[in-house]
Amino acid sequence: MLTDLQKEILKLKDEKNAIILAHNYQPKEIQEIADFLGDSLELCIKATEITDKDLVVFCGVDFMAETAFILNPKKKIVIPDKEAECPMAHMLTPEQIKEAKKRHPDAAVVLYVNSLASAKAEADILCTSSNALKVVESLKEDKILFGPDNNLARFVANQTDKEIIPIPEGGHCYVHKMFHEGDIIFKKEEHPDAEIIVHPECNEEVQKLADYVLSTGGMINQVKNSKSKEFIIGTEIDLITRINREIPEKKSYPLLNDAICKTMKLHTLEKVKNSLETEEYRIFVDEEIAKKSLSAVKKMIEVSK
Ligand code: 13P
Ligand code: SF4
Repeated sequence: MLTDLQKEILKLKDEKNAIILAHNYQPKEIQEIADFLGDSLELCIKATEITDKDLVVFCGVDFMAETAFILNPKKKIVIPDKEAECPMAHMLTPEQIKEAKKRHPDAAVVLYVNSLASAKAEADILCTSSNALKVVESLKEDKILFGPDNNLARFVANQTDKEIIPIPEGGHCYVHKMFHEGDIIFKKEEHPDAEIIVHPECNEEVQKLADYVLSTGGMINQVKNSKSKEFIIGTEIDLITRINREIPEKKSYPLLNDAICKTMKLHTLEKVKNSLETEEYRIFVDEEIAKKSLSAVKKMIEVSK
């Protein structure tokens, strides 16, 4: 049952010919009013399909909304809370990439979509957690500068013959860094039959103990399609909220209850309503940077087909 505020938002959304896109880490009340919920790649692809809407309310972090803008520079893209930034995306500057390119002129630059628009402009191609290996394998170069997540870089390096050079040193997601081997051992004692699924942003030791290492979208599909009835899931807590809402016949447990991405939670129903009423806060990416990044985003979408 929707609350009065949720109903008001849906009415306003129709009046404004708007669409609400939300990442899988959004809280339950926002998941319930979103037109589309997805992982980073699914949201990028969705952003290429929005042709008939005047306003896009993006409930996610800055790099996701910026990518939607890069793909739709003429559309009004708004984010309910302008402080919703991904700290990892801010760990790699365009200057650091240029420096690394000087040291490795024969390397291709693959950037995780969790990066600044100005950094994306320096990339040959982007990737997300669901297509990183495929993207790397699609390139002719044998040497790859890969940033900013060192764990995703390692995840790819373990599955390819190419040389993967992580940039910058220590690039990480503080939420996924919270998980340790002991958490898996502890949870597995509580739920011995559960399948263990973790995100590639987790540390390598954690990945090694998992049955599957998948993007948030991949985790949902795994729970849907697996023969197992129980799952221990190592990612942000509200992905498990989504799984338990949509697949209640199976039991999914968070690896840690306090794995919370604080900036994802800055969006609230009140702020979504405000975005629809005031068309704030508009996302803009510098024209030159948007043009340069567009080719790297499009190449990734092409490779993912
Ligand atoms: P996904 O693309 O797997 O949803 O990951 C996004 C993210 O920010 C993970 O922390
Ligand atoms: Fe960024 Fe980590 Fe939050 Fe994902 S969970 S948006 S990588 S801080």
